[in-house]
Amino acid sequence: MSIRFDDRVVIVTGAGNGLGRCHASAFAARGAKVVVNDLGGTGEGQGADMSVAARVASEIRSAGGEAIANTDPVQQGQRIVEQALDEFGRIDVLVNNAGILRDAAFHKMDQAQWDAIYETHLLGSFRTTHAAWTAMRAAGYGRIIMTSSAAGLYGNFGQANYAAAKMGLVGLAYTLAVEGGTRDILTNVIAPVAASRLTASVMPPEVLERIQPEYVTPLVLKLCHENHKGNGEIFEVGGGWISAVRLEQSVGKTFELNDISPEGIDACWNEITDFTNANHRKDVTATMVEIGERIGVSFGMAKQ
Ligand code: NAI
Repeated sequence: MSIRFDDRVVIVTGAGNGLGRCHASAFAARGAKVVVNDLGGTGEGQGADMSVAARVASEIRSAGGEAIANTDPVQQGQRIVEQALDEFGRIDVLVNNAGILRDAAFHKMDQAQWDAIYETHLLGSFRTTHAAWTAMRAAGYGRIIMTSSAAGLYGNFGQANYAAAKMGLVGLAYTLAVEGGTRDILTNVIAPVAASRLTASVMPPEVLERIQPEYVTPLVLKLCHENHKGNGEIFEVGGGWISAVRLEQSVGKTFELNDISPEGIDACWNEITDFTNANHRKDVTATMVEIGERIGVSFGMAKQ
């Protein structure tokens, strides 16, 4: 096994079940010291059970690995990071994975459902990552994963809260990629599909068998290795399939300033929305340079 994590310290949030448990065990099997975080609540985020994280940490130690349990909610992610630093003295990898569901059609969704999802997925990932960021900047090294979802990338009925939080993680990751890249702190996003208690009730057994978490975890390890230099990238992954995802920008149309009107836009709609020869911008600088060229101004940003 050439992709190893000896002497690396890895935090996996929500590592008591499903994907997180699988990630944590795999990191440990390849030499990492792992912080197994899990609050141990229900799939809807109710209650807490201290034994859930402890069980996975114990499984890892029984298999000869090194792991400690942490039971703080990710909304208090700074505590997870503090424990990792107290125990192991550094943080190399953070996998933001903890998650819950509170599905409802938008017209029935209440504030509590919105808040619970936002707080667990987006605020929780922010708090944990923000705390780890300080240690990673000081060390000049870090690998971060945000766990998004196809529901966020594309939208899904009954998941407005979840989709908003999951797409929020993409924006967060894109910006952390820009801010951390020069210090070798690299942030990437996965949108997994896997059998877990969150999907157990919505998929038939033969499908669940085909999409075990074990088929997602290898990509996470690849993205979190020191030799992997990809940054700010999104991957859909599940059942042995891995695909890269990115935003597209059509070539578009530039109107004369004295000739831009709703009717003129209407007449050119096909041209504006034609994705033939679409562009893929690396960052906001790239798109601002392009816009500047299209409209004949300079925003003071150099082409990279
Ligand atoms: P899971 O329910 O098996 O595992 C999630 C774990 O997170 C649980 O052990 C839970 O106790 C823990 N957790 C929840 N809230 C927490 C909090 N506030 N603090 C600490 N721990 C907390 O679910 P699964 O499927 O393994 O999900 C993992 C991640 O993958 C989630 O972010 C989920 O949204 C995402 N995902 C999963 C998909 C799938 O097909 N299973 C699809 C798309 C995204």
